[in-house]
Amino acid sequence: MWQSGAMDSAHVDSDLVNILFTEEQIQAKLQEMAHTIAADYEGKDLLMVGVLRGAVMVMADLARSLPCHLEMDWMAVSSYGSGTKSSGVVRILKDLDTDISGRHVLIVDEIIDTGLTLSWLVNNLSSRKPASVEIATLLRKPEALAMPIEPKYVGWDIPNEFVVGYGLDFKERYRNLRDIGTLAPHVYS
Ligand code: IMP
Ligand code: MG
Repeated sequence: MWQSGAMDSAHVDSDLVNILFTEEQIQAKLQEMAHTIAADYEGKDLLMVGVLRGAVMVMADLARSLPCHLEMDWMAVSSYGSGTKSSGVVRILKDLDTDISGRHVLIVDEIIDTGLTLSWLVNNLSSRKPASVEIATLLRKPEALAMPIEPKYVGWDIPNEFVVGYGLDFKERYRNLRDIGTLAPHVYS
């Protein structure tokens, strides 16, 4: 049934165990991250690389919180794996349109789980001779801490639960949910 207005957690109440972060909390966190990023990249020419498709919302809001010129480009990668676990074998579905040699690259992602996808991506982009490569992620799960990958900007560390909303999907749904919540087991079982 069509309801006017945006998709907030009230629309998918029974699909969520709890709301982890509200729209307001997410925006405040991105402001905070943008503040640090702006200071770190002052006088540098910043190229933000979003990882499709999950990072679309983070990119849109983080970029608009930055009070400086920047460029945006996108990559789409697929990591082979069984359903919800990535294997670290990554394939490029859409490469950058930009030559990043000599550029300051900031990879923008919504969540790091095992960290396998991003560690592959960092290696791949580093081989193209950029001036620097850093990572900004809104969320990080515990397993990522065991990987040799150091995101410079992390919004929140979260428990090892499956979360949806704000770009994060389950079977391509819930990306347009404005909050981030933990998916109820009855949805995926
Ligand atoms: P990894 O860090 O290589 O394991 O993969 C990270 C990717 O897995 C993210 O970019 C998401 O697309 C997906 N992912 C991991 N955890 C979640 C989650 O809790 N909800 C939705 N997608 C997730
Ligand atoms: Mg992603």
